[in-house]
Amino acid sequence: MDLLELKHIGVEYDSNGKKLLSLQDISFSVRSNQFVSIIGPSGSGKSTIIKILLGLLKPSAGSVTLGDKPLDPENLKLSVVFQNSALFPWLDVLKNVEIALEPLTKDENYIKETAKKFIKIVGIDGFEEAYPRELSGGMKQRVSIARALATGPDLLLLDEPFAALDVFTAQALREELLDLWESPTFPPDTILMVTHNVDEAVQMSDKIVVLSSRPARVLGEVNIELPRPRNTRSEEFYAVVDSVVKLMSSD
Ligand SMILES: Nc1ncnc2c1ncn2[C@@H]1O[C@H](COP(=O)(O)OP(=O)(O)OP(=O)(O)O)[C@@H](O)[C@H]1O
Ligand SMILES: [Mg+2]
Repeated sequence: MDLLELKHIGVEYDSNGKKLLSLQDISFSVRSNQFVSIIGPSGSGKSTIIKILLGLLKPSAGSVTLGDKPLDPENLKLSVVFQNSALFPWLDVLKNVEIALEPLTKDENYIKETAKKFIKIVGIDGFEEAYPRELSGGMKQRVSIARALATGPDLLLLDEPFAALDVFTAQALREELLDLWESPTFPPDTILMVTHNVDEAVQMSDKIVVLSSRPARVLGEVNIELPRPRNTRSEEFYAVVDSVVKLMSSD
């Protein structure tokens, strides 16, 4: 079933009085239980798509629908993880996670227990009282993943969440996130990730939407049916990487 559908989305930014076309006629859909990646060059408009889904930006053309209704925070719970972990530096780890839960309930005990549970799930228990400045980049990113998951989102949005990490940390976190996503008790069944890393997209996604350089258009989609966990050194893996690279260079 389609969870989310973007139809003919266009975005024009006003840049010092000049119109700057960022997205041109972007259409694609995300099904329930799917892991979809959007791949495109820097500045193409990937984060702009995330901003639209978060309701931070109104597109100048087109629509985003859920079934036959417009996208609305009331009917789809979203969480997001950004490239820089976007933690509050003056709050400790526990509070950084709790703060996402506070608008949802007044039950302080539930807030604390849920925050602690997700801090443990992402493997940083013991650091509840640490401040962001005391954490490594990978640990900070774990906190933001815990914060994003704790609210039980229907759709998890990831905007280049591994791009600022060293290769080992990034690979470990990718695998952990995939394990969580595949576990039946994990809240978001559906993930939409923005990246410019082809291997990462092929390793993680069921479908990759390939964007052109700005103004972003959809160059094509690649469906990936390789069994999971994926062998990133297999011939089949490289064949998919090749097809994505071919689409990207058709721009
Ligand atoms: N608030 C804004 N006002 C004006 N122009 C903007 C604004 N935000 C983004 N843009 C422009 O829109 C285009 C797309 O930006 P966006 O941040 O979506 O790209 P991106 O694909 O996420 O890039 P990156 O991979 O570097 O993160 C860029 O050319 C950028 O300069
Ligand atoms: Mg971006």
